[in-house]
Amino acid sequence: MSRVIVDIEGMRMFIPMGIVRSPYVILMFVGCIILLLIKNTELALYACSFLVIAGFIAAKMRLKLRQIWLRVQEKNAELNSVLQENLNGIKVVKAFYAEEHQVNKFGDINEDFKSENIKVENFRAVTMTTVLFAYWMVLALVLAVGGIKVINGEMDIGDLTSFMFYLQLLAMPVRMVGWLISSASRGTTCGTRIFEILDTNPNIQNLPNANSKYYRMKGEIQFNNISHQFPESKTKSLDNINLTISKNQKVSITGEAGSGKSTLVQLLLRFYDPVEGEVLIDGINIQKISLGTLRKNIGYVHQDVFIFNETFKNNIKYGKPDASDQEIINVAKIAQIDDYIQSLPEKYNSIISENGANLSGGQKQRISIARTLLLDPPILILDDSTSSVDATTEKSIQDSLKQLEKGRTVINIAHKLNNFSDSDNIIVMTKGSIAESGKNEKLLSDNGIYKNIYNLQISN
Ligand SMILES: Nc1ncnc2c1ncn2[C@@H]1O[C@H](COP(=O)(O)OP(=O)(O)OP(=O)(O)O)[C@@H](O)[C@H]1O
Ligand SMILES: [Mg+2]
Repeated sequence: MSRVIVDIEGMRMFIPMGIVRSPYVILMFVGCIILLLIKNTELALYACSFLVIAGFIAAKMRLKLRQIWLRVQEKNAELNSVLQENLNGIKVVKAFYAEEHQVNKFGDINEDFKSENIKVENFRAVTMTTVLFAYWMVLALVLAVGGIKVINGEMDIGDLTSFMFYLQLLAMPVRMVGWLISSASRGTTCGTRIFEILDTNPNIQNLPNANSKYYRMKGEIQFNNISHQFPESKTKSLDNINLTISKNQKVSITGEAGSGKSTLVQLLLRFYDPVEGEVLIDGINIQKISLGTLRKNIGYVHQDVFIFNETFKNNIKYGKPDASDQEIINVAKIAQIDDYIQSLPEKYNSIISENGANLSGGQKQRISIARTLLLDPPILILDDSTSSVDATTEKSIQDSLKQLEKGRTVINIAHKLNNFSDSDNIIVMTKGSIAESGKNEKLLSDNGIYKNIYNLQISN
């Protein structure tokens, strides 16, 4: 994130400073040298000795500056992420009384950033002073040699004066060279960091022969021998899962935290590809379906709701920008958020703060439900979608959702079992595997994990 902002800014400065000005500086430089050579070749060659020194210093400076600029950009990026962390996590910081810790953290990185910047400036000052010193020495040399020539009558005083004048014209491009080298070093450093991101291939891509034409799926889902392990994890998050969900069935999944419920449905959306096994929808391996078609057919109410800093209307119609106002109101009613929105002065045009800071957890969830319902997907995934609403609201959302579940394949993930009784199949997961499966009555009579959870929830 900070790379995007900080490095692009570095590149942006390079364009006016570097790319636009450099032809002008180079022309001026070459023009002056040619004029000097025409005026007096011998003196011009003395003057050119300076170019060798300046060229050598410039080359060294460029190499060294690239390393320092890299550190400056890294520190700048770190500084930005701490700032972002402070703003986004402001409530956690305050609740844990950790202001001092955050201030110190910011201060330390800021100090490093400052010292790297001072290094750039020191280095630039030393090298540029050396270059300018060499330039003035050459000026003195030319004046001395030229002066002797004038005394000996080998050169006209007017020629020497005009030669000196052209030589002084060189001073401007010489000073500019330092700026150019510095901004070019910064520009290339930033460019390298930006291209590292742009050149990263996403792990999940459309296969070259994927069918890119959109079609509406029927909604039959098969997980065949699915195992999954995250690259940075030591254990499997899913271990040999076999599950078939017929068209228009409702499957409910429960299980302890971290048992792999979200991972399983995210494989269906191809957020990741399984390490082993295959996922089929309507008998087709989902890797052969274009990502656009796949994801438009699946409505996913995520357990971590994300809200955009826009109006209620835009947040709800996010997946269907051309939705009519009536359609938006209809889904908001089903999701039980219409009453609240209508009570606001600007109704559906009221702006929601960044990440929904002015909404309750339950209100955010209801917006997320409305957003998904608007897509009218044949496959609906509800991942702990009513976890942060009160019991009464939960009951009414679930009653409305029941209407919507008709004619769709539904995967309903929840810790609370109160919406499970009408499921065609219930899956209980433990440690990445299916521990129990079957209908509500069967699982209750089996006296296993499901029955245990059920009893615990009843007694609560
Ligand atoms: N992006 C990830 N990278 C590495 N490990 C992950 C990632 N996402 C999940 N995991 C791990 O995979 C396991 C399963 O996680 P998952 O989110 O599927 O659990 P869950 O059953 O949905 O839990 P909860 O009920 O808390 O939502 C966990 O051990 C988790 O730490
Ligand atoms: Mg989960």
